Amino acid sequence: MTPESTAQPPASVEIDWDALKVVALEAMARAYVPYSKFPVGVAALVSDGRVISGCNVENASYGLTLCAECALVSSLHMTGGGHLVAFTCVDGKGNALMPCGRCRQLLYEHSAPGMLLQTVSGVKTIDEVLPDAFGPRTLVEFAEEAL
Ligand code: THU
Repeated sequence: MTPESTAQPPASVEIDWDALKVVALEAMARAYVPYSKFPVGVAALVSDGRVISGCNVENASYGLTLCAECALVSSLHMTGGGHLVAFTCVDGKGNALMPCGRCRQLLYEHSAPGMLLQTVSGVKTIDEVLPDAFGPRTLVEFAEEAL
């Protein structure tokens, strides 16, 4: 699977943020968080119309904790690949939660151009939440210049 897509999400696609939030809440309810007691649920619309989700899974070796976004990205590939068009993340109270820095990078790798995120300060693009990102294109450009 190529790391980057040229496919644009159809301009006509209307994002049903409420429906996406319901899926994120369902995922959040399945979080395994015996240590932090801070459940997180995420949901995303994929370029082919699928909706995927994930929850955080902690570990007695605290540093091994998997953020909810890790499960989401695994689900993306396990259920057919594609790219993330729209994304939402909720905490245990159902409030919008910003993905941590590491997870913004994780999402960026799998984002469709112009991917939208529901954030604590409204809907933003992936480029707004991770400006001047390091990503797959950086590596391709480096390799091309080395030729
Ligand atoms: N967490 C996520 O699942 N995603 C994020 O983007 C932020 C943090 C989880 C990890 C840990 O289980 C809990 O929130 C507290 O840090």
